[in-house]
Amino acid sequence: MAGETNDGALWGARFRQGPSPAMQALSQSTHFDWRLVPYDLAATLAHARELGDKGFLSAGDVELVSAALSEIGRDYEAGTLVPAESDEDVHGALERILIDRIGVEAGGALRAGRSRNDQIATFVKLYMRDSAKHLKSLLLDTADTLLSRAGEAGDAVMPGRTHYQLAQPVLLAHYLLAHAWPLVRDITRLDDFLARNDVSPYGGGALAGGGIGLDAAAISKALGFSAVSQNSLDGTSARDGVAEFLYVCAQIGVDLSRLAEDIIILSSGECGYFLLDDAYSTGSSMMPQKKNPDIAELTRGKSGRMIGNLTGLMATLKALPLAYNRDLQEDKEPLFDSVDSLTLILPAFTGLLATLGFNLEAMAKNATTGFALATDIADVLVQKGMPFRTAHEVVGKLVALCEERGLDLAEVSDEDLAAISPQLTPDIRQVMSAEASVARKAGIGGTAPDRVSEQAKALQEALEALR
Ligand code: ARG
Repeated sequence: MAGETNDGALWGARFRQGPSPAMQALSQSTHFDWRLVPYDLAATLAHARELGDKGFLSAGDVELVSAALSEIGRDYEAGTLVPAESDEDVHGALERILIDRIGVEAGGALRAGRSRNDQIATFVKLYMRDSAKHLKSLLLDTADTLLSRAGEAGDAVMPGRTHYQLAQPVLLAHYLLAHAWPLVRDITRLDDFLARNDVSPYGGGALAGGGIGLDAAAISKALGFSAVSQNSLDGTSARDGVAEFLYVCAQIGVDLSRLAEDIIILSSGECGYFLLDDAYSTGSSMMPQKKNPDIAELTRGKSGRMIGNLTGLMATLKALPLAYNRDLQEDKEPLFDSVDSLTLILPAFTGLLATLGFNLEAMAKNATTGFALATDIADVLVQKGMPFRTAHEVVGKLVALCEERGLDLAEVSDEDLAAISPQLTPDIRQVMSAEASVARKAGIGGTAPDRVSEQAKALQEALEALR
C-alpha cells in the first residue's frame, strides 16, 4: 500500500505499488541469509542498548526489546522461526517478527542510525569469524590424525615418486607428515584471516556513517570486535575479506584434494598400498565386488567448486563502484557453500585417514623397484671422490645394462660392475636396500628415521601451539 513500509521489507512508502512477483522473487534472500539470524539478533540487542544509552529508547523499551530478541533467538534455535513469504531478507523478517511480538512503537525504533548495508557487512564478518574457528578445529583434527598415523607407521618404507614415476624410497611416516604440513599452514592462514577480519563496519550506515550520535565502538565491542572501520564507504562495501576467506577455503580444498588423489591411486587394485575401511567407502549398484573411495572423490570434486566460489566472487567484485551495490548480496551463497562443503568434507576425511589400512608389505616390496636406489649408488661414488657428472654416467650405464638383461641393480655381478667402472666395487652393495637408502637421507627435512621423528615432534608442537 502506498505511503507505508512493505510487509517484511524495510522500505515502501515512496512507491505507489508493491514489487512485482518477479522483482520480489529475484530480490528475496531469506532462503540463504536465514543463517545470519543469530548475528542480526546480537547486533540488534547491542544497538537497542546504545539507542537506550543515547535516549532514543526508554529503559523499559530496551528491556522489552531485549526479552523479545532472546525469545526469537530461542525459537530460531528450536527451528520454529521461519521467514514469511513476503519477507525480503533476514533484516526485514526480523523487524516484522519483532513488531508482531512487541508492537511498532519499540519494534520500529531499532532501525535508527543503521542500515542493512553496515549490518550485512558486519554479520558476514561475524559469520566468517565463527566459521574460521570451527574449520580450524576440524583441520586440527585432520592434521592430528595424520600425525598419529605417521607415528604408527614407524620405519615402514614406501616408494616415493616424482613425475608419478618411481623415484626413491621414503618412509611412509615422512609421506603422511608431508600431507599434514600444508594443513598447518592453512590453519595459520585462518588465524591471519581472523586478525584482519577483526574490524567492524557497524555504524557506517548506508555509506556515509551514522548521523544520530550512536557510539559504533560500543556496539562493535559488544559484538567482540577490537576495532571499528575507519572509513564508512570502505566498511560497508569492501568484501576482500570474504574473498580472502574463500581463498583459504579453496586452498584447504586443494590441499585435501592432493591427498585425496593419492589415496584414490594408492588404494587402487594395481597399487593396493592403502585399504579403505568399510565405514568410509561405498559400493557399486552393479558391480558387487566394488569398494569405492567416494570420500576422496567428493573431496576432489568439491575442491573444484570451492575454487569456483572464490573466482566467482572476485569477478563480482572487480568492477563495483563505491559504495554498496546490490551485487554484494552475491557474496553469501558462495561463502556458505564453501563453509558447508568443508564442514562436510573434513570429518569424513579425518575418518577416512584414521581408518585407512596400510599394506606395508606391498609398499616395502615396491620401494626399491624401478632402480630407485640408483641415486644412492651415485652418491657413494661421489663420496669416493668421483665428480657427480661422472657418477651419474656410470650409474646410468649400470641401469642400461640392467634393463638390457632384465636384472635388478643388486643382481649385477662384481665383474660386470667393475667392467662399467673400477669404482663400482662390491662394497656399494651396502646401500642397496630401502632401509640403507632412507637412513642416508639424514639432512634436515630428510626421510631418515631420526629426522622423521624430529619432524613429527616439531609438527606436534606446531599443532599444540595452534590449538
Ligand atoms: N541483502 C543485502 C545483502 O546481502 C543487504 C540489503 C541491502 N539492500 C539494500 N537495498 N541496500 O547485501
